[in-house]
Amino acid sequence: MAEKTRSASLNRREFAVAAAAMGASLAFSAPAARASKRSWKERRDLYPQGVASGDPTFDSVILWTRCPPASGNTAAKLAVEVSQDESFQNVVATALVVPAAENDWTVRVLAAGLKPATTYWYRFSDARGMGSRIGRTRTAPADDDDRPVNFAFVSCQDENTGYNNAYRRMLYDDRQKPEADQLDFVLHLGDFFYELVWYPEDRTKPYYSRKIRDIVRYPTGRKIADYHIPVDLPDYRAAFKGYLADPELADARANWPFVCMWDNHEFSWRGFQGLTDDGKGVVGAQTRRVAAAQAWFEYQPARVRKVGNQDLNRFDAPNVVDADVAKFDYQGRIAEEPNNIAAINGLKLFRHLRWGKNVELILTDNRSFRGYLVANDDRASEPLDTSAFLDLFPQEAAEILDAGKAYNDGHPPDIITFGSKQLANYRKDKEPQSILGQEQKAWFLEQLRGAKATWKIWGNSQGSLDGRFDMKNLPPELGKWPGRDYGMLWIDDWQGYRYERGEILDFVKANGITGVTSVCGDRHCFMAGVLSKALPPQDYEPVALEFVGSSISSPGAVEVYETNVHDTEKLHALLVRRPPGKLPEPMVNFTMLHGVAASLTYDKTGDVKQALARSNPEVAPHLTFADLGGHGYSAVRASSDTLETEFVCIPRPIERSTADDGGPVMYRVRFRAKIWQPGQAPTLEREVIEGALPFST
Ligand SMILES: [Fe+2]
Repeated sequence: MAEKTRSASLNRREFAVAAAAMGASLAFSAPAARASKRSWKERRDLYPQGVASGDPTFDSVILWTRCPPASGNTAAKLAVEVSQDESFQNVVATALVVPAAENDWTVRVLAAGLKPATTYWYRFSDARGMGSRIGRTRTAPADDDDRPVNFAFVSCQDENTGYNNAYRRMLYDDRQKPEADQLDFVLHLGDFFYELVWYPEDRTKPYYSRKIRDIVRYPTGRKIADYHIPVDLPDYRAAFKGYLADPELADARANWPFVCMWDNHEFSWRGFQGLTDDGKGVVGAQTRRVAAAQAWFEYQPARVRKVGNQDLNRFDAPNVVDADVAKFDYQGRIAEEPNNIAAINGLKLFRHLRWGKNVELILTDNRSFRGYLVANDDRASEPLDTSAFLDLFPQEAAEILDAGKAYNDGHPPDIITFGSKQLANYRKDKEPQSILGQEQKAWFLEQLRGAKATWKIWGNSQGSLDGRFDMKNLPPELGKWPGRDYGMLWIDDWQGYRYERGEILDFVKANGITGVTSVCGDRHCFMAGVLSKALPPQDYEPVALEFVGSSISSPGAVEVYETNVHDTEKLHALLVRRPPGKLPEPMVNFTMLHGVAASLTYDKTGDVKQALARSNPEVAPHLTFADLGGHGYSAVRASSDTLETEFVCIPRPIERSTADDGGPVMYRVRFRAKIWQPGQAPTLEREVIEGALPFST
C-alpha cells in the first residue's frame, strides 16, 4: 500500500502489488492518451448498482462496478477505460476485469499512474460494447500542493423510511460552482444502510412522520418483532443492492470519489466487536460480522487490505462460529475468544489519506474494537433512573462509570450517589472504557503526531461535543434534579467515553498539534463547536474543532419529540414547544445552547430577547450551533490558513424531491476557523448564508 510520506509515485510493479493486496485489478496509465477504440452503448440495466470510485490518492483511485450475468452469459470480461475527457477521446488507462460469483459480480480496479488534482472519467463495457454509465472521479493534489481542498461529509441514509434528496441538492450545488471550488471527494461516515428493515406489510402504522418503503428483502433474514435483520452474506449483499438501486445515491457515487467508514448499522444496530445485543443481552454474532465485512469489502471501493490469499476474485472470510463471550474487556482489547478475534481481524477499516498540503484524513473504526457501554449495566438502571427528567444521564455518574479505576487520579468512590439513591461503583477496579481499542488508538495518535498537512481531519463517525442540560437550574415547581448539575443527552458515543476522549485531547495539547478537526455523523443532528476535555465548572480548554453533520434522511431527535413528547409533559418545553397555530419549535436546540432557564422563559414569554437574558454561559461555551431537527449534507473547504464548514439543511426528506435541485434549502450556515498556533485555542465564527436557523440563536 502507498505510504503517506512518499513524494514519488509508485512504479507499475509496485502498484500491481498494492492493487492485489486490495483485491483489485490494475489499470496503469500509458505514457500517451489515445481515443477509445471500443464500441460503447450505455446499458444501465446491466450494471444495476451503477459505478463508483473511492479512496483517491494523488496518483491513483479505485474504480468499481457490479455486472451480474445477463441471459446466462457468465464470466464475461469487462473492459474499464479511464479518460481525461467525458467523450473518451483521451483514454490514459485500460484493463480487463472478470466479475465473479465469489464477489457477487462486483469488480474493483486500481487506476494508477494518474496525474494529481485531475478529474477523470471512467466506464466499463463488455465484449459486445454494452456499457455502464460513465463515472467521474478526481485524484488528490500532490503532497506539496497548497490549493484549498473541498469535501462533503454525510452519514445515516435510511431509505426504508426516507429519501436521499440531500444528494440531489449536493449534486446541484456542486454544478453551480467553478471547478476549483467543486468537491474533491465525499466522506461517508457510516450508516450507509440500516440493517433493521421493515417490510411494508409488517408495519402499516407510520414511523414518526414517515411511510415504510419497500427497499430490501433478505433472502434468509430473521424477523424480530416487526422488523427483519440480515444473518448471512446474501442478506448483507441484498442490503447494499437494495440501497444502491436508489437514483440519488447512484448519481452521487458516479460523480465523486467516496471515502467510506462504517458505523454500527453496516453490521448491527447494537453491534460491537464481533458481538451484538438484539434485545436479549450480548450474544456472539461473529458469522454476521464476517458477512457484513465481506459485503462491505465487495461494495465499497476502499483501500482496505484483504487478509489471506491474493486471488482477486475471492475474499477469504475467516471461518468462525457464533460464540458468546463471557467477559468484556472495557479497555477495548477485544474479548479473548478466538472467533471474536478472527472476525474482527478479517477486515480492518481504519486508514488515512492525504490531499496536498492542507488535508490529512485519518479515519477511525469506532465499532470494531470498543467495549460494551458500561452504563448499559442493569445495576445502573434503577438507581440512575431519570424517567421523570427526560431520561438524561447524570454527568457525574457517567464520568465515574466511564473512567473506572482511573477516576479522580486513581481514587474512584465506592458509592455513586444520585439523590436519595445509592449505586455501588461496580467500575472502581476496572480499566477506563475505550472506543478505539489499544492498537487502533496507538495508530491514531501516531497519525495525529506525524500528520504534515495543515488540517488533520478526523473521520470520526461518532460525535464528541457534549450535549447537556443544566438540570440544577430547574425551578422547584418542575422538580428537583437528583444529581450534581448536568444531565447528558448522549451516552453511547464520545460524550460517554469521556476518559479516552480526554486522553486524545491531552495528547493533541501535549504535542502542540494544531488544526485537528473531528467530523462526525451518527447523532442525526448538526452541531458545530470546539473540543475541550472538560466543560465548566471543570477546566475549559479547547484544543480542536468538531462538526457533527446531520443525517441524510434518518429521523432526528426533534422528529421523535414532535411525535412522542406531548404538551401535558411537565418538561416538554425543554424539548419541543407548540405555539397555537404555528409549527412546533425545536426547543431542545435552545436548551442545549442556553440552559433550562432560558427555554422556560421563552416558553412563558415567547420573547427570545428575554429568554437570552437568562442564558447560562456555562452550559455550552463550546457550542457555536446545534440543530437536532435538520437533515442534509456538510461541506468543508480547507485552505492553508482557514477552514470553513457549511451545513446545508433541507426539509425532512419524507417524499422524493423530483426537482433538479433536490428541493428547497431550509438554511445554510457557515463556520470559519483560522489555523491556530500551539498553545492557542481554536475559535469558530458563524455566518448565516441563507434561510433562518431553528432556535439555534
Ligand atoms: Fe444513523
